[in-house]
Amino acid sequence: MAIKRIGVLTSGGDAPGMNAAIRGVVRSSFARKVEVSGIFRGYAGLLNDEVRPLSHRSVSNIINRGGTILKTSRCPEFMTKEGQKKAVEILQRNSIDALVVIGGDGSYRGAAALSKQWNIPCVGLPGTIDNDLFGTEKTIGSDTALETALGAIDKIKDTVNSMERIFIVEVMGRNCGYIALKCALAGGAEQVLIPEVQFDIFELCHEITEGYIRGKASWIIVVAEGAIKGDDLAKKIMDMTDLETRVVVLGHIQRGGSPTAEDRILGGRLGVAAVDALLKGLSGKAIGIVCDKINIVDLEAATTGYKLDPREDMGLIKILT
Ligand code: ADP
Ligand code: F6P
Repeated sequence: MAIKRIGVLTSGGDAPGMNAAIRGVVRSSFARKVEVSGIFRGYAGLLNDEVRPLSHRSVSNIINRGGTILKTSRCPEFMTKEGQKKAVEILQRNSIDALVVIGGDGSYRGAAALSKQWNIPCVGLPGTIDNDLFGTEKTIGSDTALETALGAIDKIKDTVNSMERIFIVEVMGRNCGYIALKCALAGGAEQVLIPEVQFDIFELCHEITEGYIRGKASWIIVVAEGAIKGDDLAKKIMDMTDLETRVVVLGHIQRGGSPTAEDRILGGRLGVAAVDALLKGLSGKAIGIVCDKINIVDLEAATTGYKLDPREDMGLIKILT
């Protein structure tokens, strides 16, 4: 069946560059004479029939904006068979023949269900700051989030060194240490704790005390939220070392802001590739970038195949600090 109308939605945690991806989907659809509808508020909006046709101009002046003009949400109802059946009916009622889902691994699972179980042509674009999807070297938003976290670390460094304190910087990453690892490396942090690598707090405190005796009083320890809460770590360090320790939780600041050039270009490029893939008849696929080339894998592989290999970066942090 020829695709006459494509639907696009953003789902899960928002990420800077999602707007550039929406723009890519809309503009390339028009270039290929295909209509586009925006589905607002992710799968929840789909179930609410929040569907509106988008024009070429509806994506003007959004390339530089963080967040997502389509808004996003999490939707437990969509995980049920009944929810998905309703979603299919609403897609059909709106004459949407194919769907682009921009989101993280959960959103990809939803897209995989629509494609495999309900036969809706569907592709996914990696929109998450976590950079935790297989089949793409970068997810849309991860570069901006990294720059934001790094900017904060640079500022924290000034006060750390002036007041000679221990600072814990908690960054996002429930299951993935990508942001923590990279911003620790780029920010010259002394230590990084991530969910993928076991750590020993006694050993860390021993290192801190030894350093203190040698005259090293300033420390930046970057922790991914999924490894340990910054406050819990601070309490343990203060109990064990008796040294003044402060905590900064960067939180959702990492999700906001104007996307970097890399995230804008990635979003646009993947948006165009998503439309091409659908028009070629592909479905159930995740579109990514590897070695600067479009790379396409199954949605299931994208959600299950990712594994961060932190060994080189951990080794570098040890040598360089
Ligand atoms: P992200 O896409 O950023 O990882 P979530 O994990 O919260 O965010 O997933 C976003 C939404 O995707 C969920 O609220 C739900 O509607 C849908 N989803 C997640 N997992 C599944 C699943 N196994 N089957 C169907 N839909 C799912
Ligand atoms: O998936 C992106 C992410 O920002 C994670 O890094 C973080 O753990 C989570 O979303 C936060 O989710 P919420 O928006 O529900 O607070």
